[in-house]
Amino acid sequence: MSNPIGMRRNLAGYGDAGFSIFLRKAFIKALGYSDEALDRPIIGIVDTDSGYNACQRNVPDLIEAASRGVMLSGGIAIPFPVISIQESFAHPTSMYLRNLMAMDVEEMIRAQPMDAVILLGGCDKTVPALMMGAASAGVPAILLVSGPMLAGSWRGERLGACTDCRRFWGRYRAGELSDEQINEVNSELAPTIGSCGVMGTASTMALATEALGMMLPGGACVPAVHAERRRLAERTGARAVAMAAERLTPDKILTPAAFTNALRTVLAAGGSTNALIHLTAMAGRLGIGVDLAGFDRIARETPVLIDLKPTGQGYMEDLYHAGGLVPMLREIAPLLDLDCMTVTGRTLGENIAAAPTSFKQDVIRPFSNPIYAGGAIAVLRGNLAPEGAVIKQAAANQALLQHTGRAVVFSSLADLAARIDDPALDVTADDVLVLQNAGPKGAPGMPEAGYIPIPKKLLQQGVKDMVRMSDARMSGTAFGTIVLHISPESAVGGPLGLVRNGDRIKLDTAGRTLSLLVDDRELAARLKALPPAPSGEGRRGYERLYFETVTQAEQGCDFNFAMPKITTTIP
Ligand code: FES
Repeated sequence: MSNPIGMRRNLAGYGDAGFSIFLRKAFIKALGYSDEALDRPIIGIVDTDSGYNACQRNVPDLIEAASRGVMLSGGIAIPFPVISIQESFAHPTSMYLRNLMAMDVEEMIRAQPMDAVILLGGCDKTVPALMMGAASAGVPAILLVSGPMLAGSWRGERLGACTDCRRFWGRYRAGELSDEQINEVNSELAPTIGSCGVMGTASTMALATEALGMMLPGGACVPAVHAERRRLAERTGARAVAMAAERLTPDKILTPAAFTNALRTVLAAGGSTNALIHLTAMAGRLGIGVDLAGFDRIARETPVLIDLKPTGQGYMEDLYHAGGLVPMLREIAPLLDLDCMTVTGRTLGENIAAAPTSFKQDVIRPFSNPIYAGGAIAVLRGNLAPEGAVIKQAAANQALLQHTGRAVVFSSLADLAARIDDPALDVTADDVLVLQNAGPKGAPGMPEAGYIPIPKKLLQQGVKDMVRMSDARMSGTAFGTIVLHISPESAVGGPLGLVRNGDRIKLDTAGRTLSLLVDDRELAARLKALPPAPSGEGRRGYERLYFETVTQAEQGCDFNFAMPKITTTIP
């Protein structure tokens, strides 16, 4: 049958299509469905609920509401499970598992009968994995995030995961808080379900995917526990049925111009550096490459407008009350391509025009009065980062952005944990902390270890920031003068692995360079002494696949076989 819909899609291979649908209907009727119900378009709903994942623990409620929207619009909703990843419950790292989840999502959408799919998730890696899988599967897809958590309060001070997790932990390590006090703080950091309430990776990806056009307008910021989140789910269900009829597939929405809009949105939001990796991976699924030099260029043109932690002061619920993403998109509209198609069936420009009018508020700044004038994230290159590195200068100590210092090197995460607080560590505030072997293969899984802790003895002297660098990532909720994503990573022979204690390193953020001030002959000799890069040899299962095929940061850390040939480069 050509162009089948509903239950007749993606039949199991018995060599007899009639028998395949006969058998399929027999089994689904065991769930109580009637023939009439089974003739409707099917909307799959990706269920990412997990007892380990508070960031999206409202998924069951959202499935119920989205299913209602599907039914009201004449479809039938069928939820199905995939992997769920929560940041602090994923060993060795959530990033190590992101591509596994993307494969799960892609194959389950492809394997099962559905005319459109609702992607439900919220935590950092969940949204990128859902988007990567859906982009590859090619079925009409609409994203619904779980929504941010509400902010907490401790002794009169607002706080929330996870910028304040790090801030208070730093104060505890410095001896400013007692065990009892830090425990009180611990109970207030995530006072409700939902994704982290600051402009971390989850919030950044929610805004980026709304700007991409993959979510209903206003969908990024509604708190997880608000009734409006459920109404949004109902509207998402209704829209999914229409998208199935329109055959509005992801490739019609996820265009090069839409990804450039998303990158601009990340920059204007003061968003997470992780978004650059995830958007690169998502774009890569459609043969679109992200050029770091181009990213640096648009970063210089795009001011930071949203006053949320860690670059500013507020929380996601404040952004919701300020009108959500749309008022910010209006401010940067001259920089956007407003003709991009979205899940509404209308363009981004039409969605913005149809949204409620903006009003006076103090969370989203006007273009003319930004939090940070431009270049929230800068791309660095040099003999220490031939394929690039990034620094979130908007969240850095501005006085350290131009800095030359002596390297204090940690060869691994274990070495860092063992020595960072050693009173005998030879370190001063002017030194540069260097962490090696924390990249995609080195750790493995490119952990969010780039926020190298300030050595305790310096913390106790009142040192709040130092220049730190690694091939790791950093949580979007973190802050400091921190160079990340150094590529190639040290474990595969990148120059970062050649740094030795006492070497001089020059960070020139204005000039966009990162230099190891050691002569080339010496570096060539050190390169010869490096151990071989880790490989799949001697490993099995997913770990083997990972080590054999994961790419570097500038390619999004996707598996090389998951990406088609790159045919277009942005921005
Ligand atoms: Fe899940 Fe922050 S840990 S969103």
